[in-house]
Amino acid sequence: MGRQAPVILKITDPATVRALGLCNGKIMTGKEGVDAFYGAPAVLCVLAPKDDPTAVWDGSSVITNMLNEAASLGLGSCWIHRGREQFETPEGRDILKKAGIDPDAFLGIDSVILGIPDGPLPKAAPRREGRVFTIG
Ligand SMILES: Cc1cc2nc3c(=O)[nH]c(=O)nc-3n(C[C@H](O)[C@H](O)[C@H](O)COP(=O)(O)O)c2cc1C
Repeated sequence: MGRQAPVILKITDPATVRALGLCNGKIMTGKEGVDAFYGAPAVLCVLAPKDDPTAVWDGSSVITNMLNEAASLGLGSCWIHRGREQFETPEGRDILKKAGIDPDAFLGIDSVILGIPDGPLPKAAPRREGRVFTIG
């Protein structure tokens, strides 16, 4: 339908990346000082309209495609969870407001951290058998 409903918040300002990484790390561990973004210099946060019934799936496809694009460009990347919770916190809501995204209208899906790999990218694991089922 060409709605292109998900939006992407690109954060490269070091202080904001760090603040959001710590916020996410606290949600993950319950502890202060844990950077869930592993010191990555950039994060792309995907959000989608709260009233969109396919928000999570649309946003997840955006993330998957960004991971593939990052790999094709030789960048290191990782999917980072807790996107919903991170943008429900006061810090997360403030970041959205500063970027011009209404925190009451948009649901955090998840994020992609990006960086320059400091070594070779790991080889893909062999595909596990028995994951395709057929009927008929
Ligand atoms: C929905 C989802 C959420 C993830 N969240 C995180 C995360 O918060 N932190 C992290 O280090 N990796 C996260 N990952 C990456 C996974 O830990 C794992 O590295 C990646 O899915 C590759 O898995 P594989 O080694 O089984 O192929 C996430 C992956 C997915 C699909």
